[in-house]
Amino acid sequence: MDRRQLLKIGGAAGVASLLSRPIASVAGRAMQGAPMAASPRRSAMADSHIEVLLDEPIAPISPNIYGHFIEHIGGVIYDGVWVGKESSIPNTGGIRQSLIDGLRAIHAPMIRWPGGCFADSYDWKDGVGPSRPKRTNFWVDDFAPSRLAAAPPQVFEPNLFGTDDFVRLCKLTGAQPYIAANVRSLSALDLDHWVEYCNSPARSTSLAELRAQGGSADPYNVKLWGIGNESWGCGGNFTPQDYASEFRRYTAWIPHYGLPLEYIASGPSGDDLAWTRGFCEKMFSTGDHNIAGWSVHYYAWNLSRGKSTDWVEAKGDALSFDIEDWYELFRQGYQIEKIIEDQWAALGEYDQDHSIKLVIDEYGPWYRKGTEIFPDALLGQQVTLRDALFTAFTLDIFNRHADKVSMAACAQLVNNLNALFLAHEGNFVSTPNYHVFAMYAAHQGAQSLRTEFSSPSAHYLRDGKAATFWGLNGSASLKGKQVALTVVNADHATPRATEVVLRGAAVSAASARVLTAPDMHAHNTFTQSQIGVPVEAAVDHAGNSLHLTFPPASVTALTITLN
Ligand code: AHR
Repeated sequence: MDRRQLLKIGGAAGVASLLSRPIASVAGRAMQGAPMAASPRRSAMADSHIEVLLDEPIAPISPNIYGHFIEHIGGVIYDGVWVGKESSIPNTGGIRQSLIDGLRAIHAPMIRWPGGCFADSYDWKDGVGPSRPKRTNFWVDDFAPSRLAAAPPQVFEPNLFGTDDFVRLCKLTGAQPYIAANVRSLSALDLDHWVEYCNSPARSTSLAELRAQGGSADPYNVKLWGIGNESWGCGGNFTPQDYASEFRRYTAWIPHYGLPLEYIASGPSGDDLAWTRGFCEKMFSTGDHNIAGWSVHYYAWNLSRGKSTDWVEAKGDALSFDIEDWYELFRQGYQIEKIIEDQWAALGEYDQDHSIKLVIDEYGPWYRKGTEIFPDALLGQQVTLRDALFTAFTLDIFNRHADKVSMAACAQLVNNLNALFLAHEGNFVSTPNYHVFAMYAAHQGAQSLRTEFSSPSAHYLRDGKAATFWGLNGSASLKGKQVALTVVNADHATPRATEVVLRGAAVSAASARVLTAPDMHAHNTFTQSQIGVPVEAAVDHAGNSLHLTFPPASVTALTITLN
């Protein structure tokens, strides 16, 4: 049993043949950039319908829903983010340049660091100032014992990347820093001091002087602070009641320096309502709260179709999967919508005016070992077209619940789980998830709109029995005169001829970009890109409607300009 299993058991209660299936010819057309649109005559042929309700706003979409997560685990920091100042790999002050460029291109709004489970074993003082001790990484026991002698930075933390570097990464990319504090193994005073290091005025304290030596006399103004991580598991094995007391103690009287800090409490694993209610009962019975966000972690990892709950056995494979696995991952992933609704309702039992928002700061598929990009890239896995659709519909869910979800972070940015990038030494490549984030960037800060999707379901066999999954789904938002409409066609084989109606306005221009590939397993390696940039597709429109066909197994982003 590896460490991860232990964490799961402690906290959460708890190969198929490679199918190289050509996706129908429509996909091929879209890939070649042929117009997907048709004249309004085609509405009679449309089997699907989308209605964007311009007069039914939900809430502004917080840009921080499009956040990212980097942890000192496997190949995320060392190799992924940090290559070192002396490296021949292009870098800015030791940070991989291609990563900086990629994050800028998708307008990354927020990055969470340093973990993850690592956070509750991390002493931030090790990563600042001139002396950098080597420490045992939290994930040490998940590496092969032979790695102990080799002692790579993934196993024994060299502390070369610390607070100054993280804040620099954020500044270079335009993202807001979100720091997860150590509640399990450091004191509340250590958190006070970390905030002092980050936020105290220039030259005001010894820690401000130390910060100036590290690169910045000016304060970093870090606003977002996570109070522990998975405090039900690797973050301390707390009961929800005990954690509520710790949360209160750690956040009481932290120095603010005039900056309103936002504290994120460690919420449940998945939909564990007992954790949420246990925490709230204690918190709300002992006075006012100062919680800005309720962190929820949800990974889609059990592809056993109900046959196992074993953390290792129940996992699927990132690359080797069939149609049944395709939909099973989606069924698992789609549960996040119910989790959002359940957690929101549970918080509302105590926090009637909903001052606490949901922060889904770890999400994504989690497959079995075997497709990591290099051996020390622990929890690294390949990212296929299937994962791109998963990521896209997850972001659509967040958009649709913009009134509830204030932040989210895809786990993790590079070389780990649902990565946007794979990097090793001089090699760097974007995964299909990167393109999804690029396609969805227009939603950031826009007004989420209620949108109705009506289309035939996808049909398949699940354990020999007829099963269905939704066909089309997505989200829409409005910024000025621009509507962003993102649509996932989850059906692995059937294109959907669709009429899109904008209720309440006429369309003056429309265009679409489509991400798909001829093979559902399409993915990118350092030597071969099977899934490239989304293809532009022109869209015809008339009045308040437009028509297009969504290829099977695709993500489409429409930009619609209103009159
Ligand atoms: O993202 C990998 C790990 O998953 C994180 O360290 C932890 O918070 C979660 O269980």
